[in-house]
Amino acid sequence: MLTALHTRWSRGIVGYSFKTNNLPWVIRFMKDQGLWAEVVSSDEYRLAELLGFDAAHIIFNGPVKGKSEFMDAVEHGAVVNIDSKRELHWLEECDKTFLDHANIGLRVNFCIEEYCSGESQCGSEDGRFGFSYERGELYDSIRYLRKIGANLAGLHLHCSSKTRSVHIYKAIASVVQKIVHEYHLDLQYVDIGGGFFGGMVGKPSFDDYFEAIYDVFSHDPLLKNVNIIVEPGMSLIGSSVSYVTEVVDVKKTKNNLFVLLDGSRIHIDPLMRKSSYTYHVEKKDNSIKASECDEQILCGFTCMENDRFFKLKAPELQPGDRVIFEKVGAYTMGLSPQFISFYPPVAVMQNGELKVVRRKNEAEDFLKSNI
Ligand SMILES: Cc1ncc(COP(=O)(O)O)c(C=O)c1O
Repeated sequence: MLTALHTRWSRGIVGYSFKTNNLPWVIRFMKDQGLWAEVVSSDEYRLAELLGFDAAHIIFNGPVKGKSEFMDAVEHGAVVNIDSKRELHWLEECDKTFLDHANIGLRVNFCIEEYCSGESQCGSEDGRFGFSYERGELYDSIRYLRKIGANLAGLHLHCSSKTRSVHIYKAIASVVQKIVHEYHLDLQYVDIGGGFFGGMVGKPSFDDYFEAIYDVFSHDPLLKNVNIIVEPGMSLIGSSVSYVTEVVDVKKTKNNLFVLLDGSRIHIDPLMRKSSYTYHVEKKDNSIKASECDEQILCGFTCMENDRFFKLKAPELQPGDRVIFEKVGAYTMGLSPQFISFYPPVAVMQNGELKVVRRKNEAEDFLKSNI
């Protein structure tokens, strides 16, 4: 990703999306690769600070920021993408000496469906973030910034799509172009958000995405010198995490065969939406010939009936066998509830060695922040 970006914009910025996977080890790893922090709440902002990010390397997004973190970010050089009128008003309370060179951006709300029909996550209901271009709220915000003497450094246009297609980024580029010309903007950055595929065969590559933007920006006198910010999450961490479960028991009921695992769907499908999984099975004893059996329903440790992963015909599973779910690094660990069992341990494989980077959370950990 860095190569694809820097070939086109030598100062291009990659901000790692904390919410995608906020495991401190992962965040530190991203930081060590030179990535900035992309945070969407005051809690994430403070986490970034505690993990050693300088405010100047934080991109502060999100619809509900806290006032003191917002002001701290504006005054200490973070990229702050404003999402609501409340935040615009807070600017007037910031130290005036910072405002004319602060890195303030506006999140743009535009109708992506008009450009990429059927591809956006919210369809004809509109996305709910930022200031509407079509309704004039974006222009009102630009005028507000001009009136109070605040520097409009950038525009932020993250779009969550169902398709992660290159069309989305072409649409973003053309909307930026339209806005910049219509309102005579002289921007320092355009933040095109995240939402990319992460190097999957047959899917767009980082080069494909960035070229779509570069193709438009590099030919436009108002955009050829702007810097680009990207905020990937899924494309960086999704495929590198596996969830290891072990068979605890096998039960026959009148009509079914249930295989009980020591893991749960709440850890890898917390929104209970998945209909398929990438996985492989490791038999405890490979000498036992894999035999066919009745269809097995793989279930998790919670007491919810719908904690069922999927049905499996073969191989027949026995206690001690492992089912390893792959590509579960995005929107899983950070969304997992403390339901029935507290957070599971996490280990990192580095140079052939497995190192525990988060121990299993125990009842004592759970009690710590309670009275
Ligand atoms: C503002 C913003 N930036 C970045 C991301 C990361 O997106 P992804 O994980 O799809 O790359 C999201 C995800 O919803 C987001 O809302």
